[in-house]
Amino acid sequence: MRLLLKIWRQVDRYTPGRLEEYTAADVSPDMSFLEMLDVVNEGLVLQAKDAIAFDSDCREGICGMCGLVVNGLAHGPDRGTTVCQLHMRRFKDGDTITIEPWRAKAFPVVKDLVVDRSAFDRIIAAGGYVSVNCGGAPDGNAIPISKDLSEAAMDSAICIGCGACVAACKNASAHLFMGSKISHLALLPQGHVERRRRVVAMIEQADAEGFGSCSNEGECEAVCPKEIPIANIARMTREYVKALFGALEK
Ligand code: SF4
Ligand code: FES
Repeated sequence: MRLLLKIWRQVDRYTPGRLEEYTAADVSPDMSFLEMLDVVNEGLVLQAKDAIAFDSDCREGICGMCGLVVNGLAHGPDRGTTVCQLHMRRFKDGDTITIEPWRAKAFPVVKDLVVDRSAFDRIIAAGGYVSVNCGGAPDGNAIPISKDLSEAAMDSAICIGCGACVAACKNASAHLFMGSKISHLALLPQGHVERRRRVVAMIEQADAEGFGSCSNEGECEAVCPKEIPIANIARMTREYVKALFGALEK
């Protein structure tokens, strides 16, 4: 396939960016989207030009490092799929593909398609953890947890922190990300000790980072590569209201 790529180039967060056009020739349908960009970059390097910066790590849909807006869709056209798992067979010879970074005030552009998502780390540091006393390993059966409960918690824990939910939301809200982290811990008894403090601290940190609020339109759920439902946002809101009115244990 031969494709026309319109790719966002930006030197740093302080310099205005622009879309630049590149031709990707001899693209195999079996290539992943990121492999296609690797080939484009090899061509640029051979011409002594600046390679296009983009993030990736596992390239297996696990780590959450990759994140591109492809033709206006966070992670591209395949549902439940990270952009590293998107394949070029999804496109046709002669297609034009526009590739942009996540766009949100709380995710400033570092370079080209790379954004700074450390705001998510600060939200997790504010409360997305459980405190554990050091000592011998506890008995695995000391806290019985039903299969239904553990599966529901793991369905929320599957969030990879990619930030697509923020990129797709017109309010740049981090509610699906936070809702999945808070649900995961609120569902399990180990998370109950810090439950009240956690939800308040994480929401306050998200506000301080410049993320918006949720208007329940579901774009986040539609682009989430792990297909995390917005029911997690409802659970987070219930946790928050209960925390504010003292209905959770201190
Ligand atoms: S909720 Fe989904 S889209 Fe948002 S950070 Fe987690 S995995 Fe990514
Ligand atoms: S590179 Fe790890 S999820 Fe895409």
